[in-house]
Amino acid sequence: MRETLTVTDNRTGKTYELPLVQNSAINAIDLRKIKTKDDDFGLLSYDPALLNTATCKSSITFIDGQNSILKYRGYPIEQLAEKSSFLEVCYLLIYGDLPTGTEFEEFEKNILTHTYVHENIKKFMDGFHYDAHPMGILVATISALSCFWGESKNVKDPEQNERSVLRLIAKAPTLAAFAYRHRMGMPYIYPRNDYGYVKNFFHMMFNMPDEECKVHPVLIKALDKLFILHADHEQNCSTNAMRSVGSSHCDPFTAVAAAVAALYGPLHGGANEAVLKMLAQVGSKDKVPEFIKKVKAKEAMLMGFGHRVYKSYDPRAAIVKKLAYEVFEVTGMNPFLELALEVERIALEDEYFVKRGLYPNVDFYTGLIYQSMKFPSDIFTVLFAIGRIPGWCSQWLEMFGDATQKIVRPRQLYTGHKHRDYVPVEDR
Ligand code: SDX
Repeated sequence: MRETLTVTDNRTGKTYELPLVQNSAINAIDLRKIKTKDDDFGLLSYDPALLNTATCKSSITFIDGQNSILKYRGYPIEQLAEKSSFLEVCYLLIYGDLPTGTEFEEFEKNILTHTYVHENIKKFMDGFHYDAHPMGILVATISALSCFWGESKNVKDPEQNERSVLRLIAKAPTLAAFAYRHRMGMPYIYPRNDYGYVKNFFHMMFNMPDEECKVHPVLIKALDKLFILHADHEQNCSTNAMRSVGSSHCDPFTAVAAAVAALYGPLHGGANEAVLKMLAQVGSKDKVPEFIKKVKAKEAMLMGFGHRVYKSYDPRAAIVKKLAYEVFEVTGMNPFLELALEVERIALEDEYFVKRGLYPNVDFYTGLIYQSMKFPSDIFTVLFAIGRIPGWCSQWLEMFGDATQKIVRPRQLYTGHKHRDYVPVEDR
């Protein structure tokens, strides 16, 4: 079999043979050979929202969206969620393989000793209004970290990059917890490096100076599992932002801030917060059919549903749904669960959703768990961001190891005026 594509340009009658990449794609740059005359620029590919464009080769995450398959470095998400830990998955994503016992010990120690942030970050945090959204604070404070670790700009130094990545994974929970404490007007709680990653996060979020918060081990395990489920998802909007901004060779703190900003939107990570708002608006089970009617009339959107890649059940949503029952055993039933199940039941039976392949995505059930763990809804997307940091960072590291990558610079099809001469204001 010849791994090529033969294209005939009907404008000129000429035929071109284009080599295929991995038997799955054409090199878009090969289209430039297709010209009507010598000084013609050549063809471009037009792909708004990158619906059908591979922007990189990657060996990190595999998704089969028709068959609900998700793997990190070849390991099925179900096995990792069941048997691994978030920090082990961080190691896997960054270094490519699961760590040995000694490698993991060293890695964990490294992360847990980088959890503190510079004292001036607290002053920076204090500058925000009391009701500032924690995602806005996270974007700003992650970006601010680059001002404290200026050496992170040396992105050509792999050892420096590794140090920056460890710092990002270690400090994200501290920034997230500080953002929450600021919003609540409560004193910041310093990290406890003798605690595990997730237990320390609960400690920084909910501890009071005179009262140690006691978190049930089931909840610690559950949040760890949720972080695993969010750890990477190939070339989604925020990862694309990470790679795109990172391609200018700015420091990784700045690039992660851009990724967090992309995640903030309700069509992406912000959907977990929006799901709870939506359920609250629906109000009760008997109102679900009326709400679904509005969705089908495009007057509302079913948040936490649909996906660009999955046209089957998001495997992460299936794990989260099961996990919710384990969490509610400890916290008591979340009253929104019944409502969410009813929305899912009705939607999955409806032709509108079936025809479009719309299923619950990772964001549909996570908010119910976070709420039962006592996290306020505006911190839900921050929790997604903490989980996604290793994914963004491993994609960024991979980009630097790929000699074919350059600064990202898409083309456009210009639709504006061909030429206009300037007219002074008094003559317009
Ligand atoms: C995440 O990409 C990733 O991997 C992301 C993510 C990750 O881990 O990084 O998985 C995390 O971002 C999950 C998605 C969270 N967002 C939401 O839950 C918001 C609701 N979902 C939709 O906005 C939407 O489904 C997207 C944004 C997730 C995907 O959008 P697409 O691929 O651009 O699909 P589309 O908007 O073109 O929809 C196709 C059709 C349209 O109908 P028609 O014009 O063909 O009639 O499906 C309809 C849409 O109107 N549709 C929905 C819907 N999602 C799509 N209709 C109602 N409710 C929805 N949620």
